[in-house]
Amino acid sequence: MARILILNGPNLNMLGMREPQIYGTNTLSDIMERTAARFNGRAVIEWNQSNHEGALIDAIQQARANGYDGIVLNAGAYTHTSLAIADAIAAVHGATPVVEVHLSNIAAREEIRHRSLIAPVCIGSIAGFGADSYALGVEALLLRNN
Ligand code: DQA
Repeated sequence: MARILILNGPNLNMLGMREPQIYGTNTLSDIMERTAARFNGRAVIEWNQSNHEGALIDAIQQARANGYDGIVLNAGAYTHTSLAIADAIAAVHGATPVVEVHLSNIAAREEIRHRSLIAPVCIGSIAGFGADSYALGVEALLLRNN
């Protein structure tokens, strides 16, 4: 069965209380548990969250070392700023494909959020479907895996 890591970046631990008009009222652990349950019998989903750029890079590198079949990554604001995370994704690309996801539709928000430094090194991007963006990201990896 496919093993997939859902990796969450800065401030996503604040979901539920953070700008609920943009990100909804569910907590990150609610969303992660519901997403994992949705793929029962189809994939093993593990998840993680960090507010720290280096910890996210370590998690991406370790996902490759530990043989994960792919990563669904919501890099939060690092999406728009982190060349280091983009480099980490590029470094694991062949072995561990990464799907970029966002709860909000970043293309419809402030201009600074329109640019994603990680998009060119991910296999694709999903944004704007709220919590369902995560499940769509997992689905994309599974389709590719079969
Ligand atoms: C986000 C969008 C980012 O621009 C923002 O910095 C976040 C969350 C999203 O899921 O919509 O932290 O990645």
